[in-house]
Amino acid sequence: MTTPPAPKYRRELSSFVALNTALAQQKLVWDSKPYFLEYSTNSSCNLRCKMCPQSEELPMVSTPRDKREELLDQLLPHATILTPSALSEPLLNNMKTLIPKLQEHQVSLNLITNGALMTPEVLEMMLPHIHQLTFSIDSQIKEIFEMMRSPANFEEVTEKARLSVARCKEVALPVTIHMVLVADNVPHLEGFVDYVVDDLGAHDITVLELLDSTNDFDQLDAFGVHGEEVVGAALEKMRARCEERGVNLRIEVHAPHGQEFTYYDQPARINSAAIMDIMHVELAKSHLGFCPHVMGYLKVEPDGEAFPCCRGPRELRLGNVIEDGFEAVWNGEPMQRLRKQMFEGNLPKVCQGCAVLEAPKWFK
Ligand SMILES: C[S@@+](CC[C@H](N)C(=O)[O-])C[C@H]1O[C@@H](n2cnc3c(N)ncnc32)[C@H](O)[C@@H]1O
Ligand code: SF4
Repeated sequence: MTTPPAPKYRRELSSFVALNTALAQQKLVWDSKPYFLEYSTNSSCNLRCKMCPQSEELPMVSTPRDKREELLDQLLPHATILTPSALSEPLLNNMKTLIPKLQEHQVSLNLITNGALMTPEVLEMMLPHIHQLTFSIDSQIKEIFEMMRSPANFEEVTEKARLSVARCKEVALPVTIHMVLVADNVPHLEGFVDYVVDDLGAHDITVLELLDSTNDFDQLDAFGVHGEEVVGAALEKMRARCEERGVNLRIEVHAPHGQEFTYYDQPARINSAAIMDIMHVELAKSHLGFCPHVMGYLKVEPDGEAFPCCRGPRELRLGNVIEDGFEAVWNGEPMQRLRKQMFEGNLPKVCQGCAVLEAPKWFK
């Protein structure tokens, strides 16, 4: 008789303990597995946002149909939370393949969506599998929103987000609103807080630093257009309005602007995913300077290419999960080299100043 695999929660806990040991002993080959996984069956998007590489008409990449289940069966047994995106819209995933695999492997979703496809029916289908829901809405001003998020319609996305926030409240599912900080939205940050509370019913905002990923970067770059001081003052006014209105604010922007403020007691469901989130933050705080993503995150592109980072910089490529298998990627030479660099504080150029690396310093 073959021994059945240990229950998922046991594997998650023993993997986390193994990660603690690997970090404490500065090991290069790890018995732990990544609990956060980023993978989508394809790289499609319904929008062409001005700040996103999708606006430059990237070729669409899909995992070959006959490889999808095999790939998910390699990756999901270890994962706790899946972000089903590949610089793409997660609601365009092949849900017929994905949802049964989430159920089989007890994996929850971190769903970050542009909202345009989020009907009440889609939300109901996804709800049992979602751990964290995020809507990306960069402005409360129709002209700015539609300039950035073409061809989305502002009123339509607002209404879909509003209905979703109300439904998520009924099941204590946290909803965050993402905004990418660009030159155009800097003068309107306080009004954005009011829009999030009054029009969406949400209480959690994350401000993202604009990455240089399109030809429009210089025109959109808030710091290039307004300067550090003006942007810093606008962010401070935004923080003050969040305090007044009871909104949590996370500013994922380079020093000295990056910070996290808690002004709202967000209802939370306690499950494996929530516990893993908490333990991950605690671990990151106790190993400042070692990237939290490198500890427990794996990004796998639809063609199997793997990276230790959500940004997927080519210089941090780990290998290909479809061609080489998970273990060769997770403990291969590039990953061992990166771990060594992290232990020695000798960060690759692409990691220097990154908000993911800096964020644990702001956590209370
Ligand atoms: C790449 S998107 C994928 C998910 C989904 N399509 C969306 O827009 O929410 C993930 C997040 O990255 C943000 N994003 C897009 N382009 C960005 C850029 N150049 N710099 C920083 N964040 C960006 C989006 O606003 C979104 O919140
Ligand atoms: S930011 Fe999201 S919605 Fe916009 S083009 Fe990129 S992937 Fe699509």
